[in-house]
Amino acid sequence: MIKLHDLHFKTFITEQELDRIVQRMVDEIANDMKDEIPVFVGILNGSFMFVSDFVKKYPKPCEVTFIKLASYEGLKSSEDIQRLIGLTQDLSGRKVVILEDIIDTGNTLEEVHRIFENEAVGDLKIATLFYKPEAYKKDFILHYVGQEIPNKFIVGYGLDYNELGRDLPAIYQLKTTQYMTNLVLFGPPGAGKGTQAEFLKETYNLVHISTGDVFRFNIKNETALGMLAKSYMDKGQLVPDQVTIDMLNAEVEKNAGAKGFIFDGFPRTNAQAEALDQLMDSKDSQINAMIALEVDDEVLVQRLLVRGKTSGRKDDADETIIRSRITEYYKKTAILKDYYSAQDKYHGVDGVGSIDEITKRLNKVIDKL
Ligand code: IMP
Ligand code: MG
Repeated sequence: MIKLHDLHFKTFITEQELDRIVQRMVDEIANDMKDEIPVFVGILNGSFMFVSDFVKKYPKPCEVTFIKLASYEGLKSSEDIQRLIGLTQDLSGRKVVILEDIIDTGNTLEEVHRIFENEAVGDLKIATLFYKPEAYKKDFILHYVGQEIPNKFIVGYGLDYNELGRDLPAIYQLKTTQYMTNLVLFGPPGAGKGTQAEFLKETYNLVHISTGDVFRFNIKNETALGMLAKSYMDKGQLVPDQVTIDMLNAEVEKNAGAKGFIFDGFPRTNAQAEALDQLMDSKDSQINAMIALEVDDEVLVQRLLVRGKTSGRKDDADETIIRSRITEYYKKTAILKDYYSAQDKYHGVDGVGSIDEITKRLNKVIDKL
């Protein structure tokens, strides 16, 4: 992933793939040109890298020249195209091949045709490395297309976003979801996870998704997914991961503008962690970190026993139950610790101290993400 100005882009077409695309265009065009010496006309600035690689691969003699037009402001194709450097040589009777980096609306191409209208060229062909069919509004024939791409903004290999990115050797595509901080929050019972989640929510403007709450909400409101989940629970079966993921997806969709999410109570297994990665990927986003509050067992037991005295929760009053809950927690999270460590995303945070101290430790980890 890369950042240019305020936007994030993800890898879209690698150098190797670009090389193959350009080679294919060269082969096709060289074959069609037979023994004529073509004049390749690159459209600046975007096409400079493409033209350079193209002519290096071109197996026969050729001429190369450029014209410079300006048509783009930021992310939007503008109607108003200016001719900055026009044709400077006589091309009458010649075989001309326009080399464009990308054809979007076709406005630039229209201007190119206007430029060549009064030139008595023998033959005019249009070759473009990239073509966005969904954006194209003209009827001009595109004789050679390197690759059709979806109507999403790309950079690299000559193409820019406000002048940045032209130098990149590969193509990157704009991420539709801009950068989010997504955390998976863990902590053994009594670690103070709930309290800290509240602070994180506030500080980073995150949406807290507690799987337990999501389940209760869906079941109580009798949503389709809630009813589906309940049908498994009523039979004493585990709710399939896909149902849970679909519920989480709905929560993420509901909060499309969020700065990020805190996932709490999910994932619990490797398969779920993979499913969550896929879900975030489908949103052009990612899990940035698994944060686990680490508290010594004895401290937890003491904390929970104290809490049990006032909370009235039965499972907080019995030391044996408390210890087995803690053991259970470590058994389950060990797998996830490995999963996220392998991606360099595991962060253990010391959960012993005052609430304020622990919050500071968490902030330190998250601020570095
Ligand atoms: P058109 O005139 O709308 O066909 O746009 C053609 C010109 O817009 C290209 O030569 C590029 O300079 C620019 N352009 C179109 N799409 C993109 C893109 O996705 N990234 C960067 N520049 C683009
Ligand atoms: Mg261009």
